[in-house]
Amino acid sequence: MAQTVTVPAVRAHKRADDPLVMITAYDAPGARIVDDAGVDIILVGDTLAMVVLGHEDTLQVTVDDMAHHVAAVARARPRALVVGDMPWLSYHVSVADTVTNAAALIRAGAAAVKLEGGRKRVDMIRSIIDAEIPVMGHIGLTPQSIHALGGFKVQGKELDAATALVDDALALVDAGCFSIVLECVPDEVARMVTEAVPVPTIGIGAGPWCDGQVLVFHDLLGLQDRIRPKFVRRYAELGASATEAVAAYAADVRARRFPADDESYHLAGEVADALGRGGRTQASA
Ligand code: KIV
Repeated sequence: MAQTVTVPAVRAHKRADDPLVMITAYDAPGARIVDDAGVDIILVGDTLAMVVLGHEDTLQVTVDDMAHHVAAVARARPRALVVGDMPWLSYHVSVADTVTNAAALIRAGAAAVKLEGGRKRVDMIRSIIDAEIPVMGHIGLTPQSIHALGGFKVQGKELDAATALVDDALALVDAGCFSIVLECVPDEVARMVTEAVPVPTIGIGAGPWCDGQVLVFHDLLGLQDRIRPKFVRRYAELGASATEAVAAYAADVRARRFPADDESYHLAGEVADALGRGGRTQASA
């Protein structure tokens, strides 16, 4: 059996020839699909709120929601590293709550947690790491701050904002993060950050210079259409195929083409005869 991907292995994957591959998953079948495809990291992201639970933003999920889905992913026993996303307000109030909430995701089956924010979050990150829980950082567009940011907008476009991102990344490294997600920043800024830090950067809408890339499962597979940022490359149109398949099923049911004889169970001949339901040539249990 292939070896499980570990936090130190990811941490060591800096400026490697083969970029890290991360993707989200939220349940056991999804985890099996992405693990069989050979990804390095499975992120049980708080995008759960939008792509699975139907909310407008990521602010609606709780630690219990996240733990429930981390557990489902972990039950698939993936080879990839499982990272659990800490939801909004689970690491903002007190150190004790922060560590307890991170631990809930680890107990559910994650090997590390991810949380959003730069210098502001350093104290909480240190306390989680002190509890032996590895932390992945996340800066740039931080969707849990959409109200403060004024929407899903590219970050780091101005000189000050670009240098602030480098400072945030360095603060995350100093606090002990083993990798950093860079979301929706100009590719030049992502390159600056990537060159400035000794841990892998994992980009989403951050151009090609990062040490790895991440996409949301439902975006990559064409399973959702509500938001379609330009950085999403769709490798399949499974939503359209699924609708087509269900429509074919509905048409077959309505036309009595489904189920067919070989999709039905039958009585043994003598039982059918005794019940006055005989006449079949082939009986099976
Ligand atoms: O929650 C999530 O899916 C994420 C990725 C978009 C990086 O944070």
